[in-house]
Amino acid sequence: MILPITIYSDAILRQRAKPLKGVDAGVEELVQSMFESMRNASGIGLAAPQVGYSLRLLVLDVSCIKNYEQEQPLVVINPHILSVRGSCEMEEGCLSVPGVQGDVVRPAVIMLKYRNERFEEQVGEFSGMFARVLQHEIDHLDGTLFVDRVQKRHRRKIQKELSLLSSGVVSAAYPVSIPDVVSNSHPL
Ligand code: CO
Repeated sequence: MILPITIYSDAILRQRAKPLKGVDAGVEELVQSMFESMRNASGIGLAAPQVGYSLRLLVLDVSCIKNYEQEQPLVVINPHILSVRGSCEMEEGCLSVPGVQGDVVRPAVIMLKYRNERFEEQVGEFSGMFARVLQHEIDHLDGTLFVDRVQKRHRRKIQKELSLLSSGVVSAAYPVSIPDVVSNSHPL
């Protein structure tokens, strides 16, 4: 099922998501829906809070990228970055922040402990696009967005776009869930 994507000012994107205790039929269905929603939006990574679930779960599929055609999709549950090395700057975007791009510096290689779709513990080293997408999605699980990390020279331009998104002006080629615009004019 295609789920609507939560947008920038949605509070769920700022929460620390909860670990999963296991994988049941409900989680399996959510994983399938996340892949469907991600592909429908032409995304290469998606974290559960982006479809309204505050859970430490993300999916990734980079096979549409040149030189990554042979790579299999990945389900990552309860990830924990054990170590990082190197540094690399790359332009990022996010399905929850439509229309906004900016360069972000992140470690180039990460050692990751996580559980797969069968809740089996895995440890693996990831580099290239895998390291980039995984760190972006793990940030989502901690309530961090790429715009928080964007290089200073892009901040002013982005600020304008973010205020538009906050005020509910959202243009996306996929279903979105727009949070109620917070109004200060009617305090409770
Ligand atoms: Co994102």
